[in-house]
Amino acid sequence: MLIRYKKSFEKIAMGLLSFMPEVTDIRNLQDVIRQYDADPDWHLFLWKEEDILGAVGVRLEGGRAVVQHVSVNPSHRNQGIGRRMIQSIRLHFKDQCEICADTATETFMEKCDEESASSQL
Ligand SMILES: CC(C)(COP(=O)(O)OP(=O)(O)OC[C@H]1O[C@@H](n2cnc3c(N)ncnc32)[C@H](O)[C@@H]1OP(=O)(O)O)[C@@H](O)C(=O)NCCC(=O)NCCS
Repeated sequence: MLIRYKKSFEKIAMGLLSFMPEVTDIRNLQDVIRQYDADPDWHLFLWKEEDILGAVGVRLEGGRAVVQHVSVNPSHRNQGIGRRMIQSIRLHFKDQCEICADTATETFMEKCDEESASSQL
């Protein structure tokens, strides 16, 4: 399930965010996590099963929710966690605003949307 990031999850969240291609070094990673702490328009969620296995961020911008920083623990990939995180984010924000992807998450979001469309046929 999706849970909200809080400071006590900082280490695990930083570990997950470090897998994002655009997060290039530790300073960059610290800036990202600091922005989630400080900016009321930046929301970070974690995916929790028995352990915390994934992270997904949302930036509220111009009336839209921009999905960013989607990352799953490498040992748990290809089991549908990424897709479930995207579905949960869509459910969470669907009554508030339009949801879209940033450049890094775009192709994965498209894949998730294609799969959920074909499973509804
Ligand atoms: C992208 C990521 C979050 C997917 O998580 P996951 O839990 O493995 O995803 P799912 O199990 O729901 O889906 C796996 C499918 O997505 C595909 N996929 C992985 N990354 C993808 C991408 N960037 N674009 C499109 N499809 C992608 C896989 O090839 C797989 O396809 P298949 O089912 O046809 O074999 C994970 O690979 C990850 O953390 N990557 C590192 C972070 C990253 O690069 N983030 C940016 C992209 S979101």
